[in-house]
Amino acid sequence: MRAKEFIIMPGTADAMGLVHKPGFGPNNRFDFKNKGNNRANEASCPRTKAKECSCSQVKSLTESQDTMIAQCELMHSEKVKGTILLMQKTNTPTLIKGTITGLEPGEHGFHIHEYGDMSDGCASMGGHYNPDGEDHAGIDNGHVGDLGNITADEKGVAVVNIKADRVDLMGDRSVVGRGIVVHADKDDLGQGGDKESLKTGNAGDRLACGVIVLRGDNEDK
Ligand code: CU
Ligand code: ZN
Repeated sequence: MRAKEFIIMPGTADAMGLVHKPGFGPNNRFDFKNKGNNRANEASCPRTKAKECSCSQVKSLTESQDTMIAQCELMHSEKVKGTILLMQKTNTPTLIKGTITGLEPGEHGFHIHEYGDMSDGCASMGGHYNPDGEDHAGIDNGHVGDLGNITADEKGVAVVNIKADRVDLMGDRSVVGRGIVVHADKDDLGQGGDKESLKTGNAGDRLACGVIVLRGDNEDK
């Protein structure tokens, strides 16, 4: 019967609050074994607009774990596929690793976008995650979600291996529940000299995207 608690009627503001209260499972820990059931709810997280709200999970995990592991499976493309792993130990940069296939050879903008909302494909993921109100730039400054470019080889394969000092999986600025987008074009890192450069880096179409979700192996062994 537990699953019933998570069925939220559309537009019920009070009920939305339910999703944020701790106590997903015994001992106030998120109950990973019931994760599939929770997914049935249509409520979105106000913070990230993700279907599955991870705010309280992130909090309880941050208190009890020294390593957070999340992943993002790229979707909404026939050609471009990939799975990205994100790892963070307490007080260290987040490591972002993976392999993306099906790309045109060359550089492609790669960002964390604000919302984990794929209701309109990659278009509904919002702009780059930008909690500090900066202009677009590269991995060391600009939007927190600016991860620069990934480079696909002649076979269209890009190996992602990024150390992101400003990206957090833990705490209030956790990117869990937000989105990752791979773009058609090269990101000019804010150096393009036009308005769009300071917003998106002129990285062009959104080729593929996915929601950053916690991995089950965060659970205590
Ligand atoms: Cu982007
Ligand atoms: Zn940006």
